[in-house]
Amino acid sequence: MHLRTAAARRFAWALPSLCVLALALAGCSRDQYPQTALLPLSDFARIGDDVQDQTFYWALGVFILVEGALLYSIFRFRGRPDDPEPSQIHGNTTIEIIWTLIPALILAAIAVPTVKGIFETSRRTPPDALKIEVIGHQWWWEFRYPDAGVTTANEMYIPQGRTVEILSNSVDVVHSFWPPRFAGKRDVFPGRETRLWWKADSTGLFPGQCAEYCGIQHARMAFHIRSVTPAEFDDWIAHMQALGPKAPAAPAAAPAGDSLKTASAGAQVQGPRKDTAAAAAPQGPEYAQGEKLFMTKGCMGCHSLQAVKAPKGLIGPNLANVGSRSYIAAGWLKNTDENLERWIREPQAVKKGVLMPNLGVTVEESRALRAYLRAHQ
Ligand code: CUA
Repeated sequence: MHLRTAAARRFAWALPSLCVLALALAGCSRDQYPQTALLPLSDFARIGDDVQDQTFYWALGVFILVEGALLYSIFRFRGRPDDPEPSQIHGNTTIEIIWTLIPALILAAIAVPTVKGIFETSRRTPPDALKIEVIGHQWWWEFRYPDAGVTTANEMYIPQGRTVEILSNSVDVVHSFWPPRFAGKRDVFPGRETRLWWKADSTGLFPGQCAEYCGIQHARMAFHIRSVTPAEFDDWIAHMQALGPKAPAAPAAAPAGDSLKTASAGAQVQGPRKDTAAAAAPQGPEYAQGEKLFMTKGCMGCHSLQAVKAPKGLIGPNLANVGSRSYIAAGWLKNTDENLERWIREPQAVKKGVLMPNLGVTVEESRALRAYLRAHQ
């Protein structure tokens, strides 16, 4: 009787603790963690997730059996004050064989889907896959669509339901391209191409992240993937191809494989789109002032405004459609007017150490530059 009350008292403590734990876990909603790899949205991501699930269930089974046997033994065979010395056992061949064989079999059961997954994720992409070149820069991402001749930065458009083939490399240090909802991490090296693929089965805007330490702003070297329907994707490509004047004469485009050294190779400047309602609105004096500032403040040394046949090897992100991107500063700031102006004015305060220096832009000038860039959609 006395023992039972003691156990009940102990349980009375355990119950509130379990309730608190349950409450804490209830806070783990998917909305708060958009960058989760546990909710796959592509065939590739599902391969890894399946292996993880299987491993988890094996581990859960082992945990329940081992902890169950442990707890049972603790209570069933616990010592009492007058117990004699228990029998002393040293070695038991049968038990040792059993506890060597069982883990070996469990590991084999995990190894089969793991190795299968490695082969599946390394397979060739279908011929109709959409090629996208991913180029890592300190600290932003360049995305090129070689078949369409289109370049953009930090926000990658992909068509839902079609395999994309990522061909990646870096212009400076080692980065790692990680779109958690769609695929695993892939290291990005200078002078060596790595591949990745996936077929998205959802539309929406999803975050991604550099996953290899690459310098002071590594943690804010993010990007977004905008997965859209195939028709919307075609529209976007057509829109990008129609941006501004046609491809410039050859001298502006630096030869392939250029390094950062050629960064100031002529960034041709394009006007805003002429064929949309938004751009058809007359551009105010702010726009004209912003255009002038963009030419004279040094912006052109690092940024291109060309979506088509953009020069390679520039230090800063391509700005051809910066006005329509969801985020600026490599996924760090929402693309609001206020943020864009502040980013132009004092980049070193927003992201210390980035390669864009504070150029002494006044509040008024930043407003004009924002108006000019906002028109580049
Ligand atoms: Cu790029 Cu970390």
